[in-house]
Amino acid sequence: MGKTWATLGVDLHVEPTGSGIRKGLTEALREAVRSGRLAPGTRLPSSRSLAVDLGVARNTVAESYADLVAEGWLTARQGSGTRVAERSVVRPAPQAAPRRREQARPAYDLVPGRPDLASFPRAAWLKAARRALTRAPHEALGYGDPRGRPELRTALAGYLSRARGVRADPERIVICSGFSDGLTLLGAVLRRRGLRSIAVESYGLDVHWTLLHRSGLRTVPLPFDELGTDTRDMTGARAVLLTPAHQFPMGVPLHPDRRAAVIAWARRTGGLVLDDDYDGEFRYDRQPVGALQGLDPGHVVHLGTASKSLAPALRLGWLVLPPSLVD
Ligand SMILES: Cc1ncc(COP(=O)(O)O)c(C=O)c1O
Repeated sequence: MGKTWATLGVDLHVEPTGSGIRKGLTEALREAVRSGRLAPGTRLPSSRSLAVDLGVARNTVAESYADLVAEGWLTARQGSGTRVAERSVVRPAPQAAPRRREQARPAYDLVPGRPDLASFPRAAWLKAARRALTRAPHEALGYGDPRGRPELRTALAGYLSRARGVRADPERIVICSGFSDGLTLLGAVLRRRGLRSIAVESYGLDVHWTLLHRSGLRTVPLPFDELGTDTRDMTGARAVLLTPAHQFPMGVPLHPDRRAAVIAWARRTGGLVLDDDYDGEFRYDRQPVGALQGLDPGHVVHLGTASKSLAPALRLGWLVLPPSLVD
């Protein structure tokens, strides 16, 4: 069995086999130099101190050094001791980087799903983060309330009622890692409550359907026309996932009659509407349409996210829940 020493700042594994410890030491040092673990120019300890370090005879180390000098791995000069030779490491020639075809950047990138990342308010965010961290008690760095920090839930409740017409109470808000995390949490809860399927929109995001499938729910797509998603025939459904502010990816808001119809369905059947309000704040021609949850907070879960209004990398989302779902 060989032995490993940590010496010279590198691990040297010496095998005292074959012609013995000298061969093992020479191989270990050669390998350390070849691999670059002992950098060119590094001064090696004197044969006396390395011998003490490794617990071997001084001559063994001296002979090993001499072998490596003869091979060109080390240099030995009067007055400057034994060093790793300057050109001892053979580096592979750098590979030319594969040429990439220049991609023309569009003047206006209309691909859905990603906000303008250059617009992120970095300075304001830094200032706010600094202020919050300076004032936060130590206890704020712990696990805390599973629903999230009360300061954040309180601020969100105010914002959501002002900007989105959500009937929000901090006690019924749960902070999560973006919409996707919130949907995953809800999917698991609904499955545990006995649901086997959930109605979804046609052309919706298949990654979100996959999250629901992983919770054990089947997804049943609903028809779609110029008024938005048609929820009139949801026989047997107990929950539906909608993007009422802007149908994703078609962009059309759910028509007021359809909004009323889905709320009526929920009240009649005890069904649950999942309102994916991912970009409800955005509107260029008139006031944004209020969130569906404002019509009936007992039957609608409002799912929000900062992925569009700020940046997806924040992974910041929230659920505003009917009382029966908070626990
Ligand atoms: C329809 C829809 N819902 C929700 C989201 C946001 O998901 P998350 O908050 O997980 O980033 C997106 C993002 O692209 C989306 O397109």
